[in-house]
Amino acid sequence: MAKSRPRQAQRSTVGGQEKRGSWQTIFTGAILAVAGSFIVLVIVAADTLGSSGDGNGGAGVTPTDTPSADTATPGASETNSPGAGDPTRTPTNEPGPDGSIVVACNDILAPLDKQHRLPADCAPTDLEALPGGISAQGSQFLRAEALAALNEMFDAARADGFILQVNSSFRSYQTQADTYNYWVQTYGKEQADRTSARPGHSEHQLGTTADVGARGQFLEDFIGTAEADWLAENSWKYGFIISYPEGKEDVTGYAYEPWHVRYVGKDVAADVHSSGLTLREFLLR
Ligand code: DAL
Ligand code: ZN
Repeated sequence: MAKSRPRQAQRSTVGGQEKRGSWQTIFTGAILAVAGSFIVLVIVAADTLGSSGDGNGGAGVTPTDTPSADTATPGASETNSPGAGDPTRTPTNEPGPDGSIVVACNDILAPLDKQHRLPADCAPTDLEALPGGISAQGSQFLRAEALAALNEMFDAARADGFILQVNSSFRSYQTQADTYNYWVQTYGKEQADRTSARPGHSEHQLGTTADVGARGQFLEDFIGTAEADWLAENSWKYGFIISYPEGKEDVTGYAYEPWHVRYVGKDVAADVHSSGLTLREFLLR
């Protein structure tokens, strides 16, 4: 109410001057009216900003304000923070000099694709070794929370009669560089880019992603197996999503990989599953 008083007072003054019929008075009154209106506008604007600034005034521009920022980060990222003040969610970044966007290191929901990548020195600090019975490839590592979920999933698979194994899990930036270069040398760059992420762009660098196999099957051998069907049907219940589903290469950028599962937490996995979106679409929506 206080902010409307100047406007009322000014109008009253102008009205009184008009009755006297002096053009100088009218001119002066008009000037005062304009000045008064300006003051009112300033007061109203200041009042509006002041009353909502602590609530949602900055919601649209805060770099860390993403749709699921406060609910979607499971606890693993909290224990993995390399230092105070490090972001746990991916900010809205601008593309770097090479055109790709660098995402937050310890964000388990970071979008990673051909446009988004992790810093080269990004490695989880809570990696745990996979039990020998699970690893099909010697020493392998996953982040603690992802490994716990993987154990739970593999136990459930075993109860249904399927023995799953892991062929590949955490891969450092350098290991991914070696892996990508291997595929480039083996099949050429065009084919390698369909099946292997360039260094920094792989979900394996997160320490939350595993390539699942069974009975010694590796990569493409896994396609069409009963174990692959079980994984497709059930992995989301344990917090994992198959990142590169069949027929979605134009969306994900990668050929069908029924073995490649990424841990995002049970709640998010359920949401991704019911959305019908690929994980990439879901994380970037
Ligand atoms: N095979 C997937 C795309 C990776 O290299 O991360
Ligand atoms: Zn993989």
